[in-house]
Amino acid sequence: MKIALGADHGGFNYKNKIKEYLASTGIEVLDVGTFSAESCDYPDIAHKVAKSVASGDAEKGILVCGTGIGMSIAANKIFGIRAALCSDTFSAKATREHNDSNILCLGERAIGEGLMFEIVKVWLETPFSNEERHKRRIDKIEI
Ligand code: RB5
Repeated sequence: MKIALGADHGGFNYKNKIKEYLASTGIEVLDVGTFSAESCDYPDIAHKVAKSVASGDAEKGILVCGTGIGMSIAANKIFGIRAALCSDTFSAKATREHNDSNILCLGERAIGEGLMFEIVKVWLETPFSNEERHKRRIDKIEI
């Protein structure tokens, strides 16, 4: 599996920790930046990760900013992207099963490191339910 990973300055620390974790599990990581704690614009990063996922270059993506909100808003502008902002493990599991979310958004200033890793693990491990009603609803998302 290849994961596209990105963060702005607000999510820079968590991005590095997630990158290390993914590498330790053998998952290939496409790190699109940012590469320093200097201030930068989250839409630039969100669109890079979202385009990698939408094009099929990466299977899924993970985006981190201060709240996760800006990243999720920007990523969801790209056709085919279902970016889910998660702050709890219940939602992380449900959004994979029900929404087949292909990008996980996280807020470094909103959740602690332990919870962040639990969310990442649950989100990556949970498959889409493949149930007809969920497929029908996903097909109705793009307009
Ligand atoms: C940066 O200060 C902050 O606005 C950004 O990381 C993010 O939280 C935006 O939604």
